[in-house]
Amino acid sequence: PMEPVRIGVVGVGNNISALLQGVQVYRNLEAAHGRDAEGLPGVTRCDIGGVRVTDVRISAAFDVAAQKVGLPLTEAVFAAPNNYPRIVEVLESQPVKVSPGARFDGVPEHLAALVPVDAHADRGIEGVVEELLDTRTEVLLYSLPTGSPQAARFYAECALRAGVALVNCTPDPLATDPAIAARFTAAGVPLVGDDLASHLGSSVVHRTLLQLVADRGLDVDRSYQVNLGGNADFKNLLVRGEAKRTSKHNALGDTSSDRVCVVPSGGYVPVLGDQKVGYVFVEALGWGGMPATLEVKLTVQDSSNAAGVIIDLVRLAALARRAGVGGPVHGAASLLKSPPPGDTDRSPDAFDRAAAELARRITGTPLPGEATAVGEAAVLGGSLG
Ligand code: NAD
Ligand code: NA
Repeated sequence: PMEPVRIGVVGVGNNISALLQGVQVYRNLEAAHGRDAEGLPGVTRCDIGGVRVTDVRISAAFDVAAQKVGLPLTEAVFAAPNNYPRIVEVLESQPVKVSPGARFDGVPEHLAALVPVDAHADRGIEGVVEELLDTRTEVLLYSLPTGSPQAARFYAECALRAGVALVNCTPDPLATDPAIAARFTAAGVPLVGDDLASHLGSSVVHRTLLQLVADRGLDVDRSYQVNLGGNADFKNLLVRGEAKRTSKHNALGDTSSDRVCVVPSGGYVPVLGDQKVGYVFVEALGWGGMPATLEVKLTVQDSSNAAGVIIDLVRLAALARRAGVGGPVHGAASLLKSPPPGDTDRSPDAFDRAAAELARRITGTPLPGEATAVGEAAVLGGSLG
C-alpha cells in the first residue's frame, strides 16, 4: 500500500470544507464496513494507483481571512463566509492550523466586507516554502477566488521552490500559461490544471446537449448557460467572471461557437447558500428550418461538485511527483475545463491510463509483455558479449 498523500491547501474556502468533511464521511463508512469495501457512494475512483480516497491528509493550510487564520483547520472550514453545510458530526482532529498566506489580488474591494483580511497576511515566499518543506507536503492545492492571477503566480512560485506538485482549481492560467508550464517542466515539478470541471456541472451537461444536437444532424441556432449561486465564489464571479467565462468556453470544446453564450454567475442569490442552479438552453434548427428546443435545470451542491473531482486530481498529482514526472500532467482532461495544450482526450479512460502508468513507474512493475522484452534483450546482450 502507498503512503497517505500529504496535501497543502491554499484558500480554506467551501471547496476545502467539502473535501475535508467528505473524506471524513468516507473514513466513517470504511470504519463501519471495512476498508476494502468497494463502491463508496459518490466516489468516481475509490483507489488510484494504490491511494484510496481516505488516504489523503491535509498537512498545511494557508488563508488570509481574519476569520480563518490561526484557527485549527477543523474549525476554519466552518468560518464565514464558508457556507458548505456540516455533513459530519465529528471531524477527526488534525494537528493543522491555518497559517497566513500572502494577499496579492486574492481579496479585491467587492469581497472586502465578506473577507476581512488578517494583519499577518503578507507572508514572503520563504515562509510559505519553509512550511511546505517542514510539513513534508507533496501537493499544493490552489483554491483561491477566481481572477487573482498575481496570487496564483505567487503560490505557483512557492510550489516550484519547494518542489511540491501544484493542482490549480481555478481558471487563472498556470498549466495553460506556456511560460509557467515550462518552468514546472524544467524544475521537474508536476502541475495539474487549469480549472477543475465539476463532478456533474453545467459544462458537461451543456457540452453533452450540444453534442447530441450535432450528432442528430440539427444546427444549433442559439444556446446559453446561466448559473446562480449563493456562496462567496458566486459573489466573486459576478465581478471577476472573465477568466471563468473563457474557461467555460474551453470546456465546451468543439461544441462552442459564437451562437453559444455562457454566464458564469448570473446572480449572487444568498438564499441558495452553497447550492448552485444551472440553466442550460439549446435551440436547434431541424428539417425545413423548424426549431427544436431543450432546457435543463441542474441543481447541485456546488462545492461537493468540486471536491468529488479534487480528490482525483490531488492523487494524480501525488503519483506524478512520486514517479518523478514533472511539468503539466496529461490525462486529466475529463476533470478539467482548461487542460494543458495537447491534452485533448476527455475520456475517463485517459485518466485511468495516466494514473496506471505513473503507478507502474513508482512500483517498477513492468507492463504485460515488457518483462519478456527486457528479458530477451538481456539474453541477447549476454550472448553477444
Ligand atoms: P471560496 O471563496 O469559498 O474560497 C476561497 C478562499 O481563498 C477563501 O477562504 C479566501 O479567504 C481565501 N483567499 C483569498 N485570497 C487569498 C490569498 N491571497 N491567500 C490565501 N487564501 C486566500 O471559493 P471555493 O468555493 O472554495 O472555490 C475556490 C476556487 O475554485 C474558485 O476560484 C472557484 O471558481 C474554483 N472552482 C470551483 C468549482 C466548484 O465549486 N464547483 C468548480 C470549478 C472551479
Ligand atoms: Na466551491
